[in-house]
Amino acid sequence: GESLRRLAAARGILLGSAADDTGLRNEPGYRHDLGSQFAALTPENAMKWDAVEPKRGKLQWGGADRAVDFAQQHGLKVRGHTLVWYSQLPGWLSSGGFDAPTLRRLMTAHIAKEMGRYKGRIRTWDVVNEAMADQSGLRKGLWLDTLGPSYIAEAFAAARKADPGARLAINEIGADGVNAKSDTYLKVVQELKRRGLVDEVGFQAHFNLKGVPPSMAANLKRFADLGVDIAITEADVSVKDPGTPAQLTAQAKVYADIVRVCRSVPRCKAITVWGFTDRHSWIPDSSPGFGSATLLDDQLRPKPAFTAFQDALKAP
Ligand code: G3I
Repeated sequence: GESLRRLAAARGILLGSAADDTGLRNEPGYRHDLGSQFAALTPENAMKWDAVEPKRGKLQWGGADRAVDFAQQHGLKVRGHTLVWYSQLPGWLSSGGFDAPTLRRLMTAHIAKEMGRYKGRIRTWDVVNEAMADQSGLRKGLWLDTLGPSYIAEAFAAARKADPGARLAINEIGADGVNAKSDTYLKVVQELKRRGLVDEVGFQAHFNLKGVPPSMAANLKRFADLGVDIAITEADVSVKDPGTPAQLTAQAKVYADIVRVCRSVPRCKAITVWGFTDRHSWIPDSSPGFGSATLLDDQLRPKPAFTAFQDALKAP
């Protein structure tokens, strides 16, 4: 049949998936589907700070290299994920008690090292991830508490310097619709854009059967109006196991709605699903009993969501 990547490409959409390192290492079927159905991948964990520098100064690039090499061999683009985040930090960093000048140096050096290693091989970097608070303002945590709000622009400036050819993105969770969080996000993006530091804005789109927020298209449009590209970066739709036929049909509709929202916003040029098979999905780890969140089942067989995704891409 027609691959999702071709159908998406015909709509000007770069279709990607999160890539799981176990799947990449050990599973031919997983590698086959990732390499043939998708035009891009995002290493799900392998580029996070705790993965690449578990001990200070001891850099470990095994998983990240594997993902980038796989992508190159199969003609996929790479979304680098992620340089500055409050989570999945190595213990030496999060509990190191560093003062502001030291932490700032560690942050910019990390960006330079990781982006430098893959210079020219990563299409887009998620430079700063999940920096907004749910209610208002920026999320508290190591970066904000030690460096103050300027850490975001400082990270982007360091990223521009490290790989001037890479597209720089900011990425956010729970800011898909118009809400308090996306209001803050809009202000942050506006300022970054004014300074020429951001190219693309990511909306993660972690959903469930409640569906896509009704205001999502309007929300994406108000960001696009700032002159940035829009990407859906981590789409999935959690469903209670094993998923009744009615639930899987409802899930399929949510996936189709995600495609439709992106297609309704001219600057929405990329969709990444956060895993493409129930075999490798973060959802059941964090929400036990909800292991059916992706397009293919755990045997890599298409679910109703896969067909609905195809149809939403094909629709005129
Ligand atoms: O690092 C240990 C490893 O040493 C050990 O062998 C393994 C055994 O279970 O656990 C490993 O850590 C796990 C890690 O994934 C790598 O597999 C963590 O316990 C687990 O919590 C972690 O979960 C990841 C999660 O981010 C952490 O916040 C998920 O796989 C990943 O899908 C998820 O992705 C995030 C995005 O990066 C940002 N947006 C939200 C999204 C979903 O939470």
